[in-house]
Amino acid sequence: MATKDDVLKLLINSGDTALSGEEIAGKLGISRTAVWKAIKSLRADGCSIAAVTNKGYTLYSRNDTLSAADITDMLTGDAKEFCVTVFDEIDSTNSYLKSKAASGAKSGTVAVAARQTAGRGRYGRKFVSDNGGLYLSLLIRADITTEQSLFITTAAAVAVSRAIESVCDLEAGIKWVNDIFINGKKVCGILTEGASDFESGKLEYAVVGIGVNVTDPKGGFAPEIADIATSIYGTSAPENAKNRLAAAILNELARVLASPNDKAIASEYRNRSFVIGKQVDIISGDGTICATVQDIDDSAAIILKTDDGQIIRKNSGEIRIRIKTNEDC
Ligand code: BTN
Repeated sequence: MATKDDVLKLLINSGDTALSGEEIAGKLGISRTAVWKAIKSLRADGCSIAAVTNKGYTLYSRNDTLSAADITDMLTGDAKEFCVTVFDEIDSTNSYLKSKAASGAKSGTVAVAARQTAGRGRYGRKFVSDNGGLYLSLLIRADITTEQSLFITTAAAVAVSRAIESVCDLEAGIKWVNDIFINGKKVCGILTEGASDFESGKLEYAVVGIGVNVTDPKGGFAPEIADIATSIYGTSAPENAKNRLAAAILNELARVLASPNDKAIASEYRNRSFVIGKQVDIISGDGTICATVQDIDDSAAIILKTDDGQIIRKNSGEIRIRIKTNEDC
């Protein structure tokens, strides 16, 4: 284990009590310069460490402190191979990993951030990425065709739903194609981006990006999303919530991505999809039409019956849907 991980453990164990550089050096049998370097490196990893004059170092609230070492410690199975970097703030974890992918970063590279200044959602929309959220992306390289890569999206939605349910008592549902809802409000959005080789038709890489509202942001959700957004824990989260959720998501992602042809994942996706049977507006470049959702097939395409009786099959690249409320009908 690296010296910085030992230093982090000492700071975690000492809670609100500050530890001086000398105390840390004495406990670990290292020099004060080595302690200072470890603190610098932990801060670069995104750990918020306060230096209190005449007292020493202390960790800010662990709920807000992302730690690559802490997340990595909780990884299991294939996720143990993931290489996690954390950021206190970044433009977008997806953009970061896309540029890393272009320069050859390996599958399993993970970026986790406490805030994003340019978080992106689907259809080029802005994704509000305040404090209170967890913003995580995973780089995937797999020997699959572009067509087969659609399962990444479905699998990620199932993985995040399972992870959320593993850390709280709430039920997570999926709104086609990749929004996770709790109690009728959106708690998480997923954006999968990638590049493919046109000649072979194979996937070059995919970056799956996940933004989860862990707690409500300080001061509440932005007015434009206040009515439709929720968080897992509301105003107060349990100890170390973000690191535990990040590890749970990564463990579940590793599990679902290991069995791409598993029909059980498609079936779980369908069972969690609360849009089946609902009346929706189908929104595309050609305008908006009304339909009822009949089913979602194994490749995550949606089967719709339009109000004039036509059955149509659409994938997420072609349309988006808006669920109708009772007042719309
Ligand atoms: C959506 O709801 O439209 C999808 C939102 C996806 C947001 C995540 S947060 C981590 C990653 N980085 C981004 O810029 N976007 C994704």
